[in-house]
Amino acid sequence: MTQKTPSRTEDKKAAQQTGVDRDRFRRALSGFATGVAVVTALDERGGKVGITINSFNSVSLEPPLVLWSVAEDSVNYDVFVGAEHFAVHILARGQEDLVERFARSGGKKFDGFDCREGIHGVPLLPDFAVCFECSTDHIYPGGDHKIIVGRVHRFEDRGADPLIYHRSRILRDDD
Ligand SMILES: Cc1cc2nc3c(=O)[nH]c(=O)nc-3n(C[C@H](O)[C@H](O)[C@H](O)COP(=O)(O)O)c2cc1C
Repeated sequence: MTQKTPSRTEDKKAAQQTGVDRDRFRRALSGFATGVAVVTALDERGGKVGITINSFNSVSLEPPLVLWSVAEDSVNYDVFVGAEHFAVHILARGQEDLVERFARSGGKKFDGFDCREGIHGVPLLPDFAVCFECSTDHIYPGGDHKIIVGRVHRFEDRGADPLIYHRSRILRDDD
């Protein structure tokens, strides 16, 4: 039997049934401090795509696996779900401009950047704290997101201080 993906209206109804208010839930989730990363990949025509995320997490050491999740309403949702390779760049302190640049939907996110080519041509940003080059291992349904599990083939850890996101804003030194 094929499994039906619930529609957005059905999801909303389910949320109402569980009594979880979407906005309060989102605010509560923002109480979990995270780093911020930019995920990059190539679309079918070889164009560079990138997105700001904070859903990154480690999964497994052997094999080396990481995950992140992409929202259905991302302009590049189909690209990320279909991509065989991608790179996760954990941002360093001082890279606030990249958070904004890659969180703007659509647009020319790579203008003025001198990217290197990673595995299978995936664009690698010049600056980051840590970069993981991955192939897509699994994709799981996750409500209005898809959970993308990547197998890490190569990584570079520059040991820089991380950028930290909490309560919907980037923490500053004097916080
Ligand atoms: C700090 C931060 C974390 C984010 N985390 C995610 C995430 O984990 N997954 C996601 O799909 N979008 C996330 N977003 C939202 C996307 O960056 C944003 O929707 C972006 O416009 C999508 O770009 P696109 O529509 O061009 O693909 C985050 C945004 C910010 C500022």
